[in-house]
Order: sequence, then structure tokens, then C-alpha cells
Amino acid sequence: MKFFLALFAILAIAGEMRSSGVSKPLVIAHRGARSLAPENTLAAARTAKRLGADGWEFDVRMSKDGELILMHDETLSRTTNASELFPNQAPWSVAEFTLAEIKTLDAGSWFVESDPYGTIASGDVPAPEAESFRGERVPTLREALALSRELGLWVNIELKSRPSFVLAPSTKLLVEKTVELVRAMGMTSKVLISSFDPAAVQYVNAVAPEIPAALLVSSLPPDPLGYLRALGAEALNPRYDLVTEGLLNILSQAGFKVFIWTVNELEDLRKFAVDPRIAGIITDWPQRLLALLGRAK
Ligand code: G3P
Ligand code: CA
Repeated sequence: MKFFLALFAILAIAGEMRSSGVSKPLVIAHRGARSLAPENTLAAARTAKRLGADGWEFDVRMSKDGELILMHDETLSRTTNASELFPNQAPWSVAEFTLAEIKTLDAGSWFVESDPYGTIASGDVPAPEAESFRGERVPTLREALALSRELGLWVNIELKSRPSFVLAPSTKLLVEKTVELVRAMGMTSKVLISSFDPAAVQYVNAVAPEIPAALLVSSLPPDPLGYLRALGAEALNPRYDLVTEGLLNILSQAGFKVFIWTVNELEDLRKFAVDPRIAGIITDWPQRLLALLGRAK
């Protein structure tokens, strides 16, 4: 019974979206389609594209030798085999490894072995496809942007930097290298650079006003509008449960975009999928959102 009710709701919303011609929001695969492929890898981007997502979100950090790579955590241990290959380098901080070392790591087998979303067990990820993730490499930002450009995927680059009001030297470098690469690859209109670090967001706007920047928040500042204006951000990326009618109205009326994260449950996806004040929904389950929007492939 529950299944039929859920199916009915999906079909009803899909019909509503098609008939109203509403194309918003962007469907953004969080760390790639991370429920179906190892996060922050090129395989995850390809999966997002195959599903029909508009774009993907990924996390960027700097290696010991100043190279930009995709990695969510401060350390390499959760999503690679760094602890096996480099047993004496605990706690395996990204900042303590060179790109050459990082490129020896397997960033896919952990997904196959831990099946973090149960999608291998359920058959959503067929066994041969899961096996193909073994040996997946940690991508550089350049590789991720090149693939995005080739696939026509919009990109939300999250710069991982500790929130601060003073720009840290390493954050300054992270921003400058990211901006340089985005420009060099002709991707300025295809990306959004976001960070929980207000100093990073402000610096993106200072050095690259042509590249959209967003402030990520997991708690709301007292005056979101004033804060975004002061930072030069063009969007707020709040955790989805912070979103209120008042916040959406204030921001949309002032011309700011809102990208919400990380929306995974059907009920929440349904609530936001038809809201024109939401520019994009970042989700681990783009397949669910695409089905709601009548865009499943
Ligand atoms: O960009 C939204 C979301 O990715 C922020 O949180 O921890 O998943 O990087 P996190
Ligand atoms: Ca992120």
C-alpha cells in the first residue's frame, strides 16, 4: 500500500511539473551520485550524467605539493586504501600527501566492500558495475572539470577550508588556484564555488567577481541578506532543514539563489521540488529527485 501511495505521489508531482513547464530546480548529485558510486570520483560524475542530473557537487582540498584534488574528509582513510599502502603515515591527512602518492590510492574499493547505501545489495548497482569501481583514482580538480565540460555537467565546487573571518594563507592559495583553473578551462559560467568559510567566499568574489560564489551554512547568520551582500556571494547554500518561508522570500525577492543540501528523503524532495525559489537541490539520491520531476532516464 505504502509503495502505491509513494508511486502515486511521484506520478502526480511529475505530471504537475511537466504541465506547468517548471524546470527548476537543478538536480545536483552530491559528491557525484554517491548513493550509486564512490563519492568524489569521475565514476560518480559519469553515473550522475547517466541518470540525467544537471550537475554535481564535489569537495576540493590541496595536496602537500599544492595540487587540487577531490576529497571530502581532511584525511584519506575513509574513502581510500591509504592506511594499507602507507601504514606509517597516520592520520593520512590530505595535506601530508603528494599528488603522486595520492594517485596510487584506490578510491573505489571501499564503496564496493562497505556498500554504504545498500545499493549494491539491492541490485540498484549491478555487481559488474560495482566491481568496475575498484581501482578508481582520486581525481584532480582539472580532471573533474575536464570531464564535467565533456559531459555538459554543471559543477558546484566546494572549497574545504576551516571557517574563519581572516583569510588563511592556505585558503588564499586554494581559491587562487581554483579560480585560475576554472578560468583556464572556460568554465566560469558553468560553476558555483561554495564554502563554509566566509573568508574564502569573500575572496572568490574579490579575485573573480565573474564566478558565482555561495556561502554554505549549517546554522543561519542573524542577517543572511546583509551577510551575503557583505561577502559578495550570489547564493546561500543552507542545510535544507534551515529553510523557512521567510528566508526563501527574503532571498528570492532580493535576487539571491538558494541551493539546499543534502535532501534525500522522498517527503523532503517532494516539498522542495516544486518550489521556484529553490535554484538547486543537492542530493545523494538524484535518481529519486529525477523521478519526482518526471525526468528519470
Ligand atoms: O555542499 C553541500 C554539502 O556538500 C556540504 O556538506 O559535508 O557534505 O561537504 P558536506
Ligand atoms: Ca560538499
